[in-house]
Amino acid sequence: MTAPEYAVETRDLTRRFGNFVAVNKVTIAVRRGEIFGFLGANGAGKTTTIRMLCGLLKPTGGEGRVAGFDIGREGEKVKRHIGYMSQKFSLYNDLKVEENLYFFGSVYGLPERQLKTQVVAALERFGLSDVRQEMTGRLPPGWKQRLALGSALLHEPEIIFLDEPTGGVDPLARRSFWDTIHRLAADGKTIFVTTHYMDEAEYCDRISIMRDGRVIALDTPSSLKERLGKATVQDLFIELMRREEVE
Ligand SMILES: Nc1ncnc2c1ncn2[C@@H]1O[C@H](COP(=O)(O)OP(=O)(O)OP(=O)(O)O)[C@@H](O)[C@H]1O
Ligand SMILES: [Mg+2]
Repeated sequence: MTAPEYAVETRDLTRRFGNFVAVNKVTIAVRRGEIFGFLGANGAGKTTTIRMLCGLLKPTGGEGRVAGFDIGREGEKVKRHIGYMSQKFSLYNDLKVEENLYFFGSVYGLPERQLKTQVVAALERFGLSDVRQEMTGRLPPGWKQRLALGSALLHEPEIIFLDEPTGGVDPLARRSFWDTIHRLAADGKTIFVTTHYMDEAEYCDRISIMRDGRVIALDTPSSLKERLGKATVQDLFIELMRREEVE
């Protein structure tokens, strides 16, 4: 089987909660190896979309494929090919750093020997070897973030969903996190990332901007800036939010 051209592909993807439409006919296609920034105001529907793409929440309309698998019907297969770092870190504060890695690795079904190797590699790669016996709850936010990313990558997924991975961490930690993101993309991983930091949006290959459940813009940061005559993604984001308000 040849790998599909797109890592993530949706058509009219929709999620209702009762009468409320949280995600409204979202159509996107993310190429393999791309860093795709998924932007939008609070409550725009980003997390809801990601949960559907990760096979954690069923769409109520439209369709989507991730790593070539149908997100509605093949959620379990999707899960094996993706890493997911949720908006609220899913780490256990009352486990040691190393124990969190073992726990997540076993959730992903890694066999014992491989698990051990991957945990040691993750500790080294993310600079956590010295704190492996520390209680996770006592780590500073930037360290927890690295641990959460390390946990999401143990099974070497080809597509990585990061939902506000840098919320609450300092600028230096954010910069080094993005260095890691770029390295992962250079290795051929697809990165699907949400953020409210517009400087981070500038680092993405393409961005989409979501509002009230709909994608209202999608292109490279430079094309969007040019089209809207704005110097920064921050300016164009604000412009788009204002425009929608007057419509
Ligand atoms: N299980 C649910 N039941 C009802 N409404 C929900 C549910 N989950 C999300 N929503 C609503 O759907 C909308 C989109 O929420 P979502 O969490 O996807 O937004 P978001 O773009 O991730 O926002 P933020 O930037 O604040 O994380 C919100 O109005 C939210 O209240
Ligand atoms: Mg969210």
